[in-house]
Amino acid sequence: MSDCILDIRDVHKSFGSQSVLCGVTIKVERGRITVILGKSGTGKSVLFKTIMGLLKPDRGEILYEGSDVVKMSERELITMRRDIGYLFQDAALFDSLTVAENVAFPLEEMLGWKDRKKIAARVAEMLEIVDLPGSGEKYPAELSGGMRKRAGLARALATSPRIVLFDEPTTGLDPLLSANIDDLILKVNRTLGVTCLIISHDIPAAFHIADTIAFLNEGRIEVHGTPTDLRCTRHPTLRFFIDQATGVTPCNRPTTE
Ligand SMILES: Nc1ncnc2c1ncn2[C@@H]1O[C@H](COP(=O)(O)OP(=O)(O)OP(=O)(O)O)[C@@H](O)[C@H]1O
Ligand SMILES: [Mg+2]
Repeated sequence: MSDCILDIRDVHKSFGSQSVLCGVTIKVERGRITVILGKSGTGKSVLFKTIMGLLKPDRGEILYEGSDVVKMSERELITMRRDIGYLFQDAALFDSLTVAENVAFPLEEMLGWKDRKKIAARVAEMLEIVDLPGSGEKYPAELSGGMRKRAGLARALATSPRIVLFDEPTTGLDPLLSANIDDLILKVNRTLGVTCLIISHDIPAAFHIADTIAFLNEGRIEVHGTPTDLRCTRHPTLRFFIDQATGVTPCNRPTTE
């Protein structure tokens, strides 16, 4: 098995005259946590939708386990999506279903499970992993924002995906809840060995959990490296972005002297 689970090559996507992705190229390593940072509106969610085959790029290749998503038939896409968990930007739970029914949904609909006991056992296991035991009978409206994200993650993990795509997992949460979600992503990655690809503008979270961080800017991945590499970046926009988020200015930047 190759170390690279997802190989995105020169992906372009425009809407009318608006060019959103202008040659995105990035390799996502198996078993690691990769965070793609980018400002709001830079095309992060569009990139995820092209990976899932929900949007077709105008050009480029998206190799998932060596097969090009862009060229897949609808049937092949359905098979591939069983392998990929997707935590939507707003958790996107079904409001009319309980948390347990939400988590059971992909088991029934995607994997075709029928055995109620087996489904209930997997749902309980997933709710345990995301620290929501005993919340299965609640409806999404009864949950806090952080709990909804956890329930969305339980649903994304239910089918035992090889990779989970997280769209802004901590947006809208207070710093404490954000840190909880960060720790949960680390736990999922370390204990289940699931590859995690996260898109975010949360710089502290990226530095806390990522094995590698990529910076999406002007429709391209302009920087990609370890958190240590990025801390010293000279890319002007990324430097500004990091310094703003961490409250560092040229005057208070720590030195080793
Ligand atoms: N289906 C669509 N049709 C037309 N334009 C779209 C479509 N989807 C996205 N866009 C445009 O593409 C651009 C990038 O959108 P996208 O949702 O990917 O941003 P983002 O980086 O995820 O932002 P945020 O951090 O706010 O979630 C936006 O200008 C958006 O209006
Ligand atoms: Mg988005």
